[in-house]
Amino acid sequence: MAQQSLTQLAYQTLQQGKSLAGLAHKGLSTKLMEILAPESIPPTKPIPPRLFGELRRSMSALEQRDWHEAEQGIYPKTQLFEAPWIEWAKRYPFVWLDLPSTWKRREQKNVRDIPNQINAENYPNYYLQNFHHQTDGYLSDHSAGLYDLQVEILFNGTADSMRRRTLAPLKRGLNKFKDRNPGSLRVLDVATGTGRTLQQIRGAFPDIELLGIDLSAAYLKQASKYFNNQNGEFAQLLRGNAEQLPFTNNSMQGVTCVFLLHELPGKVRQNVLNECWRVLEPGGILVLADSIQISDSPQFEAVMENFHRVFHEPYYRDYINDDITSRINSAGFIGITAESHFMTRVWSANKPLES
Ligand SMILES: C[S@@+](CC[C@H](N)C(=O)[O-])C[C@H]1O[C@@H](n2cnc3c(N)ncnc32)[C@H](O)[C@@H]1O
Repeated sequence: MAQQSLTQLAYQTLQQGKSLAGLAHKGLSTKLMEILAPESIPPTKPIPPRLFGELRRSMSALEQRDWHEAEQGIYPKTQLFEAPWIEWAKRYPFVWLDLPSTWKRREQKNVRDIPNQINAENYPNYYLQNFHHQTDGYLSDHSAGLYDLQVEILFNGTADSMRRRTLAPLKRGLNKFKDRNPGSLRVLDVATGTGRTLQQIRGAFPDIELLGIDLSAAYLKQASKYFNNQNGEFAQLLRGNAEQLPFTNNSMQGVTCVFLLHELPGKVRQNVLNECWRVLEPGGILVLADSIQISDSPQFEAVMENFHRVFHEPYYRDYINDDITSRINSAGFIGITAESHFMTRVWSANKPLES
C-alpha cells in the first residue's frame, strides 16, 4: 500500500513537473518573441480566468484516469514514467534554436517551406505544408527529432496520457478475439509518426503483432530508433498513405489512429476511415483519438480557436466542426462510443460481424 502511494506520488510529481516545464517554456518563448519578433505575434482570443480553472480540472481528471487504468492493469504502471528522457534533454536546446525560423514562417505566412530534395509526387498535396509552422514540415530528421518534445510542451506534459486513452477501448475490442492465440492478432497504428502510441500498445499487449504506417520516412526512422531501445517484440513500420493502406481486406483485428484527422481535408478524413474499415476483420475494433471538438467541449472553444491561430493547422477549423461519429458510421462501423479527456476526444467503433 505504502509502496503504491509512493509510486502514485512519483507519478503526480512527474506530471506536475512536466506541466510546469511546459508552461514555463511557453511563457518564456512568448516573451522572447515579443522582444525579438513582435511582428510574428499571432492575434489570439483572450482566455477568461474561469477557463483556466476548468482546464486545470480537466487535466487533473485525465491524470486520475491515467493512474486508475494503470492500477486496473490495462497497461503497466512503469509506462507512466517512460520517455526517452536523455534524448529529450539533449534535443531541448534545438527546440529553442528552431524558434526564430518558426516565427519567420508565421510572419511571412510561408507554409510551403519544404526541403528541396523532396519529390512532391510521392505525397498528397495537402501534406506538403509546415503543419505547426514546423521546420521542414514532417519531412526531415530534424523535424522528427523535435516533434515529441514539441507536442509534450504544447500539451503541458499530457500528450502521452491522452494517447493512452486509446488502450482501454482497444483492450475491450480485442477481447472479442480472446479465444485466439494473442500472437495471431494484428493491430495497425495509422499515422504512427514517431511511434509513441505504438510503444504504448506494445506495453499493454506484449504478444500481439504490431504494425505502424506513416507518410514520413523520417518520422518512421525516429520510431524505429526508439523501438530499438526497448525490450520486447518489435513492430513493423511501413511508409505509406493512410488513404490507400497496403494491407488486404479483413487483415487486422484492431486499428488505432491518433492525432491525424485534424490535419486532413474532410474528404481525406473520410477516405482514411473507409480504409480502416476495409482492413479490419469483421468484429474488429477501431480506436481514434484526436482533438476535442466544439460540439463536445464548447467551454474550450477559445482554446481551439487559438490553436489554429498560433499554429499552422489548415484543416483544424473544419475538423472541430465536423461530425466524426457520422463519418465513422458512414464508413460502415457500428457500436460507436466517444468520450473526451482534456484536449482529446476518443472514439471507438466495431466493424459489424456480418460485413
Ligand atoms: C500530428 S502527427 C501524429 C503522429 C502520432 N500519431 C502521434 O500521436 O504523435 C500526424 C502524422 O500523420 C502523418 N500523416 C499525415 N497524413 C498522412 C497520410 N495520408 N498517411 C499516413 N500518414 C499521414 C504525418 O506524417 C504525421 O506523422
